[in-house]
Amino acid sequence: MEENLISRILREMREGVEERKGESARTGTARTITVTAEGTTLRYYDSATRSEEIITDHITKTDNNYTAEFEWLLRDKLHAPFDLFAFEKYPTKLVYRGDLNGVPITITLKFPAGITHCHYHVTWSGECQDNECVVYVPTPEDEIRTALQKVNLKPGEIFVELGCGDGRNLKIAATEFGAKCIGYELNHERAEQARENTKGLPVTIKEESFMNVAQDIAKADCVYLYLLQSVNQIIKPLLEENLKRGARVISRHFTFDGWTPDFEWNNIYFYHMH
Ligand SMILES: C[S@@+](CC[C@H](N)C(=O)[O-])C[C@H]1O[C@@H](n2cnc3c(N)ncnc32)[C@H](O)[C@@H]1O
Repeated sequence: MEENLISRILREMREGVEERKGESARTGTARTITVTAEGTTLRYYDSATRSEEIITDHITKTDNNYTAEFEWLLRDKLHAPFDLFAFEKYPTKLVYRGDLNGVPITITLKFPAGITHCHYHVTWSGECQDNECVVYVPTPEDEIRTALQKVNLKPGEIFVELGCGDGRNLKIAATEFGAKCIGYELNHERAEQARENTKGLPVTIKEESFMNVAQDIAKADCVYLYLLQSVNQIIKPLLEENLKRGARVISRHFTFDGWTPDFEWNNIYFYHMH
């Protein structure tokens, strides 16, 4: 039967929508793996596939720990290369190995025996085409300079940057404001660039995830981040639990749910700890 105009328009609209949906699936979506441990059962939920799996048969128990191993396929969903970063909630530990370049990855979770409830959120960043991943996008120099002026960063203060990229912000904080800086950067190449760019300055580059940096956070007078809305929420407890009173937090483009910024400038949010 020949299609009439209205049904053709409706069909094209429908197909158009489906095409766009397909496109967004191909370029990947922000993905969170939430793992919940309850006794000796591990339940994990993958927001990308919306699948939930209960794992009980891969759990081994030693005197003090349960260990669970499982793997999932990241192929189809992601673009390489990716850095995996994991939110570790004390006193549990998450270990991962393998590369994420489209190959199965094994996540090993270790948690103390007897723990009744804990959550793991695993997410990642890297050179993906999905604007919901934390790709490397530098803050323009003028912006970081103005932001540091606005928080009145002083000589000798400790400035910590979570995800410091090639270290350009740390260089400005150290040379123009006299701050002592610590930068976390998971990506090897960028961490190397950051070391190169800050050579001879009071700057320490740590090539590791910022998800477990309580000690440095506790020392910080000022923390700078340019990450993602979702990632800000994940690290919020780390900041709340460790930052000293009066410490300033500057977040470019993204806010912290439940925190009220002291002020906002140019889509950069300024907070201080109470
Ligand atoms: C949007 S870029 C911002 C770079 C820099 N802060 C700036 O404003 O110019 C985010 C950076 O965070 C890094 N990153 C993402 N997740 C990380 C993690 N868990 N630990 C350390 N660095 C991470 C990325 O590699 C990337 O360089």
